[in-house]
Amino acid sequence: MNLSGNTILITGGTSGIGLELAKALQRKNNKVIVAGRDEVKLQAAAELGFQTIKCDLEDPDSIENTVRIIENTYPDLNFLVNNAGVQFNYVFTEVHTPFKRIQQEIQINLTGQIILTQLLLPVLRTKEQACIINSTSGLGAFPKSDGVVYSAGKAGMRNFTTALRFALKGTPVRVMEFIPPVTATPMTAGRPGDKLQPEVLVAHILPQIEREKQLLTTFKMRLFLWIAFLLPNLAFKILGKSS
Ligand SMILES: NC(=O)c1ccc[n+]([C@@H]2O[C@H](COP(=O)([O-])OP(=O)(O)OC[C@H]3O[C@@H](n4cnc5c(N)ncnc54)[C@H](OP(=O)(O)O)[C@@H]3O)[C@@H](O)[C@H]2O)c1
Repeated sequence: MNLSGNTILITGGTSGIGLELAKALQRKNNKVIVAGRDEVKLQAAAELGFQTIKCDLEDPDSIENTVRIIENTYPDLNFLVNNAGVQFNYVFTEVHTPFKRIQQEIQINLTGQIILTQLLLPVLRTKEQACIINSTSGLGAFPKSDGVVYSAGKAGMRNFTTALRFALKGTPVRVMEFIPPVTATPMTAGRPGDKLQPEVLVAHILPQIEREKQLLTTFKMRLFLWIAFLLPNLAFKILGKSS
Protein backbone atom coordinates (compact mmCIF):
# COMPACT_ATOMS: atom_id res chain seq x y z
CA MET A 1 0.00 0.00 0.00
CA ASN A 2 1.50 3.29 -1.06
CA LEU A 3 1.22 5.63 1.93
CA SER A 4 1.22 8.88 -0.05
CA GLY A 5 -1.36 10.48 -2.31
CA ASN A 6 -4.39 8.83 -0.70
CA THR A 7 -7.68 10.38 0.38
CA ILE A 8 -8.31 9.05 3.86
CA LEU A 9 -11.31 9.14 6.22
CA ILE A 10 -10.54 8.45 9.90
CA THR A 11 -13.51 8.08 12.24
CA GLY A 12 -12.60 9.22 15.73
CA GLY A 13 -9.77 11.14 14.08
CA THR A 14 -10.17 14.08 16.46
CA SER A 15 -8.56 12.41 19.49
CA GLY A 16 -6.02 9.89 20.75
CA ILE A 17 -4.75 7.23 18.35
CA GLY A 18 -6.95 8.45 15.45
CA LEU A 19 -5.56 11.98 15.71
CA GLU A 20 -1.94 10.76 15.81
CA LEU A 21 -2.58 8.54 12.79
CA ALA A 22 -4.18 11.51 11.00
CA LYS A 23 -1.11 13.69 11.70
CA ALA A 24 1.33 11.00 10.53
CA LEU A 25 -0.63 10.37 7.31
CA GLN A 26 -0.96 14.10 6.64
CA ARG A 27 2.85 14.43 6.90
CA LYS A 28 3.08 11.74 4.21
CA ASN A 29 1.15 13.91 1.75
CA ASN A 30 -2.28 12.35 2.03
CA LYS A 31 -5.56 14.25 2.12
CA VAL A 32 -6.92 13.39 5.58
CA ILE A 33 -10.54 13.83 6.60
CA VAL A 34 -11.30 13.36 10.28
CA ALA A 35 -14.77 12.59 11.61
CA GLY A 36 -16.14 12.92 15.13
CA ARG A 37 -19.07 14.32 17.12
CA ASP A 38 -17.53 17.04 19.22
CA GLU A 39 -17.50 20.39 17.38
CA VAL A 40 -14.72 21.86 19.52
CA LYS A 41 -12.44 18.93 18.66
CA LEU A 42 -13.45 19.15 14.98
CA GLN A 43 -12.56 22.87 14.99
CA ALA A 44 -9.16 22.09 16.56
CA ALA A 45 -8.58 19.46 13.85
CA ALA A 46 -9.52 21.95 11.12
CA GLU A 47 -6.91 24.34 12.55
CA LEU A 48 -4.31 21.58 12.07
CA GLY A 49 -5.20 21.52 8.37
CA PHE A 50 -7.52 18.49 8.33
CA GLN A 51 -10.77 18.29 6.43
CA THR A 52 -13.52 17.57 8.96
CA ILE A 53 -16.94 15.93 8.97
CA LYS A 54 -19.35 15.90 11.91
CA CYS A 55 -20.46 12.30 12.19
CA ASP A 56 -22.24 10.55 15.03
CA LEU A 57 -22.00 6.79 14.58
CA GLU A 58 -25.03 6.32 16.83
CA ASP A 59 -27.22 8.15 14.35
CA PRO A 60 -28.07 6.52 10.96
CA ASP A 61 -28.95 9.94 9.44
CA SER A 62 -25.56 11.32 10.45
CA ILE A 63 -23.81 8.29 8.89
CA GLU A 64 -25.77 8.74 5.64
CA ASN A 65 -24.95 12.44 5.64
CA THR A 66 -21.24 11.61 6.05
CA VAL A 67 -21.44 9.28 3.04
CA ARG A 68 -23.15 11.99 0.95
CA ILE A 69 -20.36 14.47 1.84
CA ILE A 70 -17.74 11.91 0.81
CA GLU A 71 -19.52 11.13 -2.49
CA ASN A 72 -19.95 14.80 -3.37
CA THR A 73 -16.81 16.41 -1.95
CA TYR A 74 -14.22 13.63 -1.66
CA PRO A 75 -15.06 11.09 -4.40
CA ASP A 76 -11.32 10.16 -4.49
CA LEU A 77 -11.65 8.46 -1.09
CA ASN A 78 -9.64 5.22 -1.16
CA PHE A 79 -8.77 4.66 2.50
CA LEU A 80 -11.14 4.23 5.45
CA VAL A 81 -10.03 3.89 9.06
CA ASN A 82 -12.83 2.74 11.37
CA ASN A 83 -11.18 3.96 14.55
CA ALA A 84 -13.91 5.66 16.63
CA GLY A 85 -14.70 3.92 19.88
CA VAL A 86 -15.96 4.23 23.43
CA GLN A 87 -15.39 2.04 26.46
CA PHE A 88 -17.77 2.11 29.41
CA ASN A 89 -16.19 0.44 32.42
CA TYR A 90 -18.58 -1.01 34.95
CA VAL A 91 -19.27 -4.37 36.53
CA PHE A 92 -21.96 -5.75 34.26
CA THR A 93 -23.20 -8.28 36.78
CA GLU A 94 -23.68 -5.66 39.50
CA VAL A 95 -24.77 -2.46 37.78
CA HIS A 96 -28.18 -2.35 36.16
CA THR A 97 -27.52 -0.87 32.74
CA PRO A 98 -30.23 0.91 30.76
CA PHE A 99 -30.95 -0.53 27.29
CA LYS A 100 -29.84 2.76 25.69
CA ARG A 101 -26.38 2.58 27.33
CA ILE A 102 -25.70 -0.94 26.06
CA GLN A 103 -27.05 -0.07 22.62
CA GLN A 104 -24.83 3.04 22.51
CA GLU A 105 -21.60 1.11 23.17
CA ILE A 106 -22.45 -1.53 20.54
CA GLN A 107 -23.64 1.03 18.01
CA ILE A 108 -20.49 3.18 18.19
CA ASN A 109 -18.03 0.28 18.36
CA LEU A 110 -19.71 -2.05 15.89
CA THR A 111 -23.05 -1.36 14.14
CA GLY A 112 -22.31 2.24 13.10
CA GLN A 113 -18.94 1.22 11.64
CA ILE A 114 -20.48 -1.71 9.75
CA ILE A 115 -23.11 0.59 8.21
CA LEU A 116 -20.56 3.30 7.32
CA THR A 117 -18.29 0.70 5.72
CA GLN A 118 -21.05 -0.82 3.63
CA LEU A 119 -22.23 2.59 2.39
CA LEU A 120 -18.67 3.60 1.45
CA LEU A 121 -17.82 0.37 -0.37
CA PRO A 122 -19.07 1.63 -3.78
CA VAL A 123 -16.68 4.62 -3.47
CA LEU A 124 -13.73 2.48 -2.32
CA ARG A 125 -14.17 -0.36 -4.80
CA THR A 126 -13.70 1.81 -7.88
CA LYS A 127 -10.14 2.73 -6.87
CA GLU A 128 -6.96 1.03 -8.11
CA GLN A 129 -5.69 0.78 -4.56
CA ALA A 130 -8.01 0.92 -1.55
CA CYS A 131 -7.91 -0.08 2.07
CA ILE A 132 -10.09 -0.44 5.15
CA ILE A 133 -8.50 -0.54 8.59
CA ASN A 134 -10.69 -1.56 11.53
CA SER A 135 -9.55 -0.78 15.07
CA THR A 136 -10.44 -3.62 17.41
CA SER A 137 -8.89 -4.54 20.76
CA GLY A 138 -7.07 -7.30 22.60
CA LEU A 139 -10.34 -7.55 24.57
CA GLY A 140 -12.03 -8.62 21.35
CA ALA A 141 -9.78 -11.69 21.44
CA PHE A 142 -9.96 -12.29 25.17
CA PRO A 143 -12.63 -10.50 27.24
CA LYS A 144 -12.38 -8.73 30.54
CA SER A 145 -15.06 -8.81 33.25
CA ASP A 146 -15.15 -5.02 33.72
CA GLY A 147 -15.62 -4.49 29.99
CA VAL A 148 -18.27 -7.06 29.09
CA VAL A 149 -20.14 -5.06 26.43
CA TYR A 150 -16.95 -3.45 25.06
CA SER A 151 -15.33 -6.90 24.70
CA ALA A 152 -18.44 -8.25 22.93
CA GLY A 153 -18.53 -5.32 20.49
CA LYS A 154 -14.82 -5.58 19.70
CA ALA A 155 -15.09 -9.36 19.19
CA GLY A 156 -17.85 -8.59 16.68
CA MET A 157 -15.63 -6.03 14.98
CA ARG A 158 -12.84 -8.62 14.71
CA ASN A 159 -15.15 -11.12 13.01
CA PHE A 160 -16.61 -8.40 10.78
CA THR A 161 -13.07 -7.54 9.67
CA THR A 162 -12.20 -11.14 8.78
CA ALA A 163 -15.52 -11.71 6.99
CA LEU A 164 -15.11 -8.46 5.04
CA ARG A 165 -11.60 -9.53 3.98
CA PHE A 166 -13.01 -12.81 2.64
CA ALA A 167 -15.90 -11.01 0.91
CA LEU A 168 -13.54 -8.51 -0.79
CA LYS A 169 -10.99 -11.10 -1.94
CA GLY A 170 -10.09 -10.48 -5.58
CA THR A 171 -11.03 -6.76 -5.38
CA PRO A 172 -8.58 -3.86 -4.96
CA VAL A 173 -9.75 -3.31 -1.35
CA ARG A 174 -7.34 -4.54 1.34
CA VAL A 175 -8.84 -5.12 4.79
CA MET A 176 -6.62 -4.86 7.88
CA GLU A 177 -7.27 -5.19 11.59
CA PHE A 178 -5.55 -2.80 14.00
CA ILE A 179 -5.17 -3.88 17.62
CA PRO A 180 -3.65 -1.14 19.77
CA PRO A 181 -2.05 -2.18 23.05
CA VAL A 182 -2.94 -0.04 26.09
CA THR A 183 -2.18 3.46 24.79
CA ALA A 184 -2.19 6.83 26.55
CA THR A 185 -5.34 8.54 25.21
CA PRO A 186 -8.46 10.13 26.75
CA MET A 187 -10.03 6.64 26.66
CA THR A 188 -7.47 5.25 29.13
CA ALA A 189 -6.95 8.46 31.13
CA GLY A 190 -8.25 6.97 34.40
CA ARG A 191 -6.34 3.71 34.08
CA PRO A 192 -3.12 3.03 36.00
CA GLY A 193 -0.14 1.15 34.57
CA ASP A 194 2.17 1.37 31.58
CA LYS A 195 0.76 2.88 28.40
CA LEU A 196 2.30 3.35 24.99
CA GLN A 197 2.35 6.89 23.61
CA PRO A 198 0.06 7.13 20.56
CA GLU A 199 2.78 8.63 18.35
CA VAL A 200 5.09 5.69 19.15
CA LEU A 201 2.30 3.24 18.28
CA VAL A 202 1.52 5.00 15.01
CA ALA A 203 5.22 5.08 13.98
CA HIS A 204 5.30 1.35 14.67
CA ILE A 205 2.26 0.41 12.57
CA LEU A 206 2.79 2.64 9.50
CA PRO A 207 5.36 0.26 7.95
CA GLN A 208 2.93 -2.62 8.63
CA ILE A 209 0.19 -0.81 6.68
CA GLU A 210 2.69 -0.26 3.87
CA ARG A 211 3.40 -4.02 3.83
CA GLU A 212 -0.39 -4.69 3.90
CA LYS A 213 -0.18 -6.91 6.98
CA GLN A 214 -3.59 -8.31 7.92
CA LEU A 215 -2.95 -7.57 11.59
CA LEU A 216 -1.41 -4.26 12.60
CA THR A 217 -0.08 -4.35 16.15
CA THR A 218 2.92 -4.59 18.46
CA PHE A 219 5.05 -7.63 19.30
CA LYS A 220 3.65 -7.74 22.86
CA MET A 221 0.06 -7.80 21.60
CA ARG A 222 0.90 -10.60 19.11
CA LEU A 223 2.34 -12.56 22.05
CA PHE A 224 -0.81 -11.90 24.11
CA LEU A 225 -3.01 -13.15 21.26
CA TRP A 226 -1.05 -16.43 21.17
CA ILE A 227 -1.30 -16.76 24.95
CA ALA A 228 -5.08 -16.07 24.79
CA PHE A 229 -5.43 -18.78 22.15
CA LEU A 230 -3.21 -21.43 23.74
CA LEU A 231 -3.26 -20.63 27.47
CA PRO A 232 -6.55 -18.90 28.37
CA ASN A 233 -5.97 -19.26 32.13
CA LEU A 234 -2.71 -17.34 31.83
CA ALA A 235 -4.41 -14.67 29.66
CA PHE A 236 -7.06 -14.30 32.40
CA LYS A 237 -4.31 -13.72 35.02
CA ILE A 238 -2.48 -11.20 32.80
CA LEU A 239 -5.67 -9.16 32.30
CA GLY A 240 -6.50 -9.37 36.02
CA LYS A 241 -3.10 -7.84 36.87
CA SER A 242 -3.59 -5.00 34.36
CA SER A 243 -6.97 -3.90 35.85
N1 LIG B 1 -6.38 3.58 23.94
C1 LIG B 1 -6.25 2.26 24.07
O1 LIG B 1 -5.54 1.77 24.97
C2 LIG B 1 -6.95 1.33 23.12
C3 LIG B 1 -6.68 -0.05 23.21
C4 LIG B 1 -7.32 -0.92 22.34
C5 LIG B 1 -8.20 -0.44 21.40
N2 LIG B 1 -8.44 0.91 21.31
C6 LIG B 1 -9.37 1.37 20.28
O2 LIG B 1 -8.73 2.36 19.49
C7 LIG B 1 -9.69 3.30 19.01
C8 LIG B 1 -9.26 4.72 19.37
O3 LIG B 1 -9.25 4.83 20.78
P1 LIG B 1 -8.58 6.07 21.57
O4 LIG B 1 -7.97 5.49 22.79
O5 LIG B 1 -7.74 6.87 20.65
O6 LIG B 1 -9.90 6.85 22.02
P2 LIG B 1 -10.24 8.39 22.28
O7 LIG B 1 -9.00 9.22 22.38
O8 LIG B 1 -11.20 8.39 23.41
O9 LIG B 1 -10.99 8.80 20.93
C9 LIG B 1 -12.20 8.24 20.58
C10 LIG B 1 -12.69 8.90 19.29
O10 LIG B 1 -13.93 8.28 18.94
C11 LIG B 1 -14.86 9.30 18.63
N3 LIG B 1 -16.24 8.89 18.94
C12 LIG B 1 -16.75 8.50 20.12
N4 LIG B 1 -18.08 8.31 20.03
C13 LIG B 1 -18.41 8.59 18.74
C14 LIG B 1 -19.63 8.59 18.01
N5 LIG B 1 -20.80 8.30 18.59
N6 LIG B 1 -19.61 8.91 16.71
C15 LIG B 1 -18.45 9.24 16.11
N7 LIG B 1 -17.27 9.28 16.74
C16 LIG B 1 -17.25 8.96 18.04
C17 LIG B 1 -14.45 10.48 19.50
O11 LIG B 1 -14.95 11.68 18.94
P3 LIG B 1 -15.91 12.65 19.82
O12 LIG B 1 -15.15 12.97 21.06
O13 LIG B 1 -16.15 13.80 18.92
O14 LIG B 1 -17.14 11.86 20.10
C18 LIG B 1 -12.93 10.39 19.44
O15 LIG B 1 -12.44 11.07 18.31
C19 LIG B 1 -11.03 2.88 19.64
O16 LIG B 1 -11.75 2.11 18.72
C20 LIG B 1 -10.61 2.03 20.83
O17 LIG B 1 -11.61 1.11 21.19
C21 LIG B 1 -7.84 1.80 22.15
